[in-house]
Amino acid sequence: MEKPFVHKIFYRLAGVESVISRNIARRGSHSWGQEALKYHKTWQDELEENLRELGLQDKLKRFDHHLAHSATAYFASGLERALIVTLDGYGSGLAGSVCIGEGTHIRRIHKLEYPHSLGTFYESVTSSLGFKPSRHEGKIVGLAAYGNPEILLDTILSRFDQEPGNFRVRESNNIYFSRYLATLFPKIDVAAAYQRALEVVATNYVQHHVQQTGIDAIVFAGGVAANVKLNQRIFEIPEVNHIFIYPNMGDGGCGTGAAFLVSREIMENREPYQTVYFGSDYSDAVIIQELRAAGLAFEKVTPIEPVVAKLIHDGKVVARFNGRMEYGPRALGNRSILYRATEPEVNQWLNQRLGRTEFMPFAPATLFEERYRCYDNVDGAEHAAQFMTITFNCTDFMKRNSPAAVHVDGTARPQLIREEANPSFYRIVREYYQLSGIPSVINTSFNMHEEPIVNSPGDAIRAFLQGNLDYLAIGNLLVRHPMQAR
Ligand SMILES: [Fe+2]
Repeated sequence: MEKPFVHKIFYRLAGVESVISRNIARRGSHSWGQEALKYHKTWQDELEENLRELGLQDKLKRFDHHLAHSATAYFASGLERALIVTLDGYGSGLAGSVCIGEGTHIRRIHKLEYPHSLGTFYESVTSSLGFKPSRHEGKIVGLAAYGNPEILLDTILSRFDQEPGNFRVRESNNIYFSRYLATLFPKIDVAAAYQRALEVVATNYVQHHVQQTGIDAIVFAGGVAANVKLNQRIFEIPEVNHIFIYPNMGDGGCGTGAAFLVSREIMENREPYQTVYFGSDYSDAVIIQELRAAGLAFEKVTPIEPVVAKLIHDGKVVARFNGRMEYGPRALGNRSILYRATEPEVNQWLNQRLGRTEFMPFAPATLFEERYRCYDNVDGAEHAAQFMTITFNCTDFMKRNSPAAVHVDGTARPQLIREEANPSFYRIVREYYQLSGIPSVINTSFNMHEEPIVNSPGDAIRAFLQGNLDYLAIGNLLVRHPMQAR
């Protein structure tokens, strides 16, 4: 499907800016200011040229990077008053900020100047443990749960200067330091200590500003907000009663933040995000054409949801492609691979089949109404949990019935599904619940190793065949894998 005109601009802006932010953040040296200016010039020229190509001549309106992050979390939360926290690698000279959002106004009360960056801090350990920085941080979060954080925690914390409501990352707290630790200590203990240090420094920072302002609702964005475990810790700060994390928390969200800021006058009547199904969708005719072109047999099944539920109950892997694609990094049911959460072993064999290395188990998708049976301390974080952005401690019921979705530390990062947000996906899980008595299924993104989540029917068919998955439920059509491996 041809992308709408505004999407073209949006994708170009987001793409160009994220490349620049990454490059600047990676340098992290004394010359970063000059480098930033050089990149800025190149970026500016390229952007103006691209806009001209699209026939847009209007004057550009520019926003501070962290203000754009702040706007995403605040306006999408739907709250009338909140403490807005941003933490990332680098953007507009900053690595973080705290603002107060009230009505349609955002007022900054603290800024963290680069290089005092928790994003760069976490990227250094990601790289030192052999993974790709700015990309594989989630693997470190998963790995950390296996290790003992206490062995190195004090050593790492001694390289921060923490004061009330502020912190500085010492120059010696750099990639050479994390590499050194990674050569001397087990990876799991290094990961655990970095994760814990991140949690300590970030929660101290946030807690001070919560206490000073008396605002108990946090909204959070920036790349560091992708750390689902940190988000749980922030929510556990005693004075915090509400948390929302912007579903597209990284720099991919900044274009939307800028759009919110220029539309401030209509933001007065804003509604909280109920879904992020903002992407492309495809008609049955297009899907059928693609299936025929791939030589795949299919049958039309209406309604398809009870059939998918039965397949999941019978132990089949079902790749689901339906409606609009999700905006942001998480698959939330419309481009998802589904399986029953009853067997922990699925985390090995299915990841292997998908060509992935993961240390965190697959995430569960759980019926919203059943949240208290499955998770502790949900109230105040249920909006965030609709987008799989925070972990919770699991109940015994969850651990007993859905062990494949529970990490070694007893947590899970669920997607709570509301019927009104995604009626078809909700129905699949509800039908599965009726068959099994279990209100959760595993939901992992529909993509192959290191590839983006599938967007088009063609992408879906290719990943389905390559991953050797049992069934593809695409629109109202059901496709059985020609090999039916399992
Ligand atoms: Fe950012």
